[in-house]
Amino acid sequence: MTTPQNPEQALTERERGQFGPMQTDFNATFGNELDYPRLGNVTFRRGTLTDNQQALFDEHWPRLGRELANERIDIDEWFGRTGAKTILEIGSGTGTSTAAMAPLEADTNVIAVELYKPGLAKLLGAVVRGGIGNIRMVRGDGMEVLMRMVEPESLDGIRVFFPDPWPKARHHKRRIIQSGPLNLFASRLKKGGVLHVATDHAGYAEWIDELVNVEPQLEYKDWPWPECPQLTDRQVITKFEGKGLDADHVIKEYLWEKK
Ligand SMILES: C[S@@+](CC[C@H](N)C(=O)[O-])C[C@H]1O[C@@H](n2cnc3c(N)ncnc32)[C@H](O)[C@@H]1O
Repeated sequence: MTTPQNPEQALTERERGQFGPMQTDFNATFGNELDYPRLGNVTFRRGTLTDNQQALFDEHWPRLGRELANERIDIDEWFGRTGAKTILEIGSGTGTSTAAMAPLEADTNVIAVELYKPGLAKLLGAVVRGGIGNIRMVRGDGMEVLMRMVEPESLDGIRVFFPDPWPKARHHKRRIIQSGPLNLFASRLKKGGVLHVATDHAGYAEWIDELVNVEPQLEYKDWPWPECPQLTDRQVITKFEGKGLDADHVIKEYLWEKK
């Protein structure tokens, strides 16, 4: 997974119009000086669906998915049940882990957030074919989704599995694990909620190692954390992780608990 997908495709003016305004100035909004990812063109990832995927999307997305919007999600209403735990995953990719984990945590609502439409279409297919009842999807930047669509202190967990490593030094500021996102994650977690991050990129692991104690609302629990109150076994070797393993990379996992 050391090579990020090529996210830097050109935006059309219309796409800029759709996605451009949804970029929060977090420092100004929160009045802090934390580091937030510079997403640039990452906020829009082009992708074409096959005819079958498009048909599936047209039929099931209105019920199981939604686009980034300036509107809080009514989680109970969307999942059709009350009181279940809710975990949000940022960057679910093609949803391999998401679809494998969800049936093992059927009592938990899982919200998969991803920019890449074909990835969401693949997960949607797995959800529909597998009759998986506890996954919903949002298409958009995970930071904006948390900011605009998720109530503070409402999540039991946040997952970030194999985030784009942005290996070049001049791109490090695009990495999603930084002091600002950790602060936003903490704000959306309930007390006792869990943040779970995994990477197979040695440089990114060193970067995260420097940040494990930077957010005062998060207590770093390291890995493994046997008493962790939620599923931490990702179940599958993802495509990206598989690539990492092939290249003899070491997977590093991180767990924090919201204080
Ligand atoms: C390297 S892939 C890993 C995918 C998956 N978690 C896995 O392990 O196979 C990183 C994914 O994060 C998505 N991504 C990157 N930045 C994001 C953001 N700000 N919000 C939502 N998704 C994002 C990318 O589109 C990509 O699919």
